[in-house]
Amino acid sequence: MTRTATTDDVAAILAIEQACFGAAAWTTGLALAEVVGDRHVVLLSDDGEAYGAISVSGDVADLDRIAVVPEARGRGLARDLLDILIDRARDLGAERMLLEVAADNAVAKGLYESAGFDTISTRKGYYAGGVDAFVMELAIQEWR
Ligand SMILES: CC(C)(COP(=O)(O)OP(=O)(O)OC[C@H]1O[C@@H](n2cnc3c(N)ncnc32)[C@H](O)[C@@H]1OP(=O)(O)O)[C@@H](O)C(=O)NCCC(=O)NCCS
Repeated sequence: MTRTATTDDVAAILAIEQACFGAAAWTTGLALAEVVGDRHVVLLSDDGEAYGAISVSGDVADLDRIAVVPEARGRGLARDLLDILIDRARDLGAERMLLEVAADNAVAKGLYESAGFDTISTRKGYYAGGVDAFVMELAIQEWR
């Protein structure tokens, strides 16, 4: 089960960020901006092990983050979050969802591909260490 995160959940979000991204984790300010932002949706699993965030601008939703603590991976938490975030994006008027994923993040790329995302371009050296980013897109109006 998931719920919409509030400002009371920022500490829980930051804990997941630290567990998943280490030095690249969001700051408190970034997490707070996601939670309170207009046309932003942040979902947190009830047990505090996973969260996901989107922001909608015009007809485009960006998947800003999706993360599951290491000990809770492989149980379908990310897939559940992504499904609900896509529904919420559609409710906010988005027609497509975009995301960037590191070229060496095969697990995340597998998650997105299994949801129907296609790779539409590559940003060379986008991430620290010169890792490329794949830009992926999903048409969500007719999605499931
Ligand atoms: C990517 C991540 C969110 C997946 O979370 P998860 O809860 O383990 O994923 P799920 O159990 O919902 O699996 C969904 C799909 O992801 C893919 N996947 C999950 N674990 C995988 C693995 N070990 N190897 C390959 N693909 C895998 C599969 O396509 C899977 O679908 P399937 O079960 O039908 O095969 C998680 O590994 C994570 O938090 N990673 C660190 C943060 C990150 O990279 N986030 C994405 C970029 S912001």
